[in-house]
Amino acid sequence: MCGIVAYLGDKQAYPILIKGLQRLEYRGYDSAGVALIDDELLLYKKQGKVADLEEYLKDKNVKGNIGIAHTRWATHGEPSDINAHPHFSRSKKLAIIHNGIIENYCTLKKELFKRGYTFQSETDTEVLIHLIEDIQINENVELLEAVRIALNQVVGAYAIVIIAKDNPNQLIVARKGSPLVIGVGEKEFFVASDATPIVEHTTNVVYLNEEEIAVLNRNGDIKLINIKNQKKTPYIEKLELNLHEIEKDGYAHFMLKEIHEQPRSIRDTMRGRINSSRNILSLGGITDYERRLINAKRIIIVACGTSWHAGLVGEYLFEDLARIPVEVEYASEFRYRNPIINEDDVVIAISQSGETADTLAAIELAKSKGATIIGICNVVGSSIARATHAGSYTHAGPEIGVASTKAFTAQVTILTMMALMISFKKGVITKSKYHQLLGEIELIPEKVEKVLKTENKIKGIAEEFINSRNFLYLGRGYNFPVALEGALKLKEISYIHAEGYPAAEMKHGPIALIDAEMPVVVVATKKGIYEKVISNIMEVKARKGKIIAVVTEGDVAVKALADYIIEIPETEELLVPLVATIPLQLLSYYIAVMRGCDVDKPRNLAKSVTVE
Ligand code: M6R
Repeated sequence: MCGIVAYLGDKQAYPILIKGLQRLEYRGYDSAGVALIDDELLLYKKQGKVADLEEYLKDKNVKGNIGIAHTRWATHGEPSDINAHPHFSRSKKLAIIHNGIIENYCTLKKELFKRGYTFQSETDTEVLIHLIEDIQINENVELLEAVRIALNQVVGAYAIVIIAKDNPNQLIVARKGSPLVIGVGEKEFFVASDATPIVEHTTNVVYLNEEEIAVLNRNGDIKLINIKNQKKTPYIEKLELNLHEIEKDGYAHFMLKEIHEQPRSIRDTMRGRINSSRNILSLGGITDYERRLINAKRIIIVACGTSWHAGLVGEYLFEDLARIPVEVEYASEFRYRNPIINEDDVVIAISQSGETADTLAAIELAKSKGATIIGICNVVGSSIARATHAGSYTHAGPEIGVASTKAFTAQVTILTMMALMISFKKGVITKSKYHQLLGEIELIPEKVEKVLKTENKIKGIAEEFINSRNFLYLGRGYNFPVALEGALKLKEISYIHAEGYPAAEMKHGPIALIDAEMPVVVVATKKGIYEKVISNIMEVKARKGKIIAVVTEGDVAVKALADYIIEIPETEELLVPLVATIPLQLLSYYIAVMRGCDVDKPRNLAKSVTVE
């Protein structure tokens, strides 16, 4: 939520900042702004997307070789020019950009109000910069010390960058609970919420840790302390990110590119971990914690959104293969409902971004009760990856489209490998079954490639439904989470109301909705409870609902009943989610595009939900 970029060096800051904002726009896009120092501290901001800011600045003075910029996802105060960042301090000598929420901002604001401060915006951020300047003046301290004192008074999450008119040679940055990366060039610094705006300038980066404050100086020095005023040593790491990974590569949207990347991303998730010809399956990141999983009395999976759907597939996998009881929890509910957590529980936290605030809080809660925490994250070095005891990265590559696609299949791939490995080491499946499943997993990327070849057919089906107002998605067993994920994808990017249901639950309520206007997507692959799904299809047909069925190649029975058919290659039942999800992603994508929606930046959403 919210994207932060800053620059200090010899170059003109504005082009670097605006390009950085474009790269970070997936994090929030309701308003944007920039502040630069060119003798004066100049500040410009605009409601709307980064392109609107760029248009607005066409004929403005955007000179300066130090600057900060921000793209916002509104929390405190509606999207507007005034609420957009950066925000000035009262004297207009300081400007701040901020990602996160200052939870005690009301109390701080009241205090400042009593001391005569007035506020232009409704934001918590403006309160913070007034507080910092108030401390600087009243306690007669340097800016760094004022920032440190202020951050000790703050409850909540922040990633901030501050510039001062009187010191155009310095950026002050700090973080707690929201990510921040510093790119270190030759006497120049780049600061950003993630590495995507930095990679084209430098691959040397410093990840700020919780409650750290850095002072970046024009002469190339970095001073690092924490909010307790303890000196820290900056640790410079090498970025492993390629520029082409964060560009559209000729695709109309990032989402389409990411859907098409799945044969590659699933292979990357398996790379070096699985080899069926040698019967090898190993997840290096969790080796030291394997025993905990094998002996776990219970696994609790915590996640949000699409990652929660991957967790549901994980429940079926671990119970089916490894015979370990699993509970799948929405992180936001888990953290507030006084859950029972034991020391022999293993908690698996799933998150693409690794920054989701609710998931992070659920981890901290489980950790405090002594449970072992295993992470499944996509973003290397993210807060969740660092908060867990051990974990497996999905290696799907950067996911920029707000709707998660390749991250989901990568998460399910990790969960499949994890459950299979544990079941074998626990001795609950035979060697021959283990070997056969390893071989089947390795075939998944080819099968996904085959599904992607049916894109035109899916596009044709999408065209028939662009005016639909509702959709129902049905699936049973392993296909139930697939139905939920299909419905989420459609609603978040096309704004069509969609519900996912276990197919048999339909008769307990949703069946009342079915008429000739109701499209019903049924994931009806062979095996499992195929015959029962056919009965559910008959129930829909009897009420004139339109059936779009995802079936196994060569299917006859469902074909005879459905209005539209999408075939997918046959695979083991427990691997079907990896293949059956693909056509549902494409269906949502094309419906949304044909409705004129901005699929990469759907309204009201943000890629990384760092607030609760
Ligand atoms: O980064 P995370 O996986 O923790 O994010 C969780 C959800 O916010 C995310 O999956 C969200 O539901 C996506 N927009 C789904 O496409």
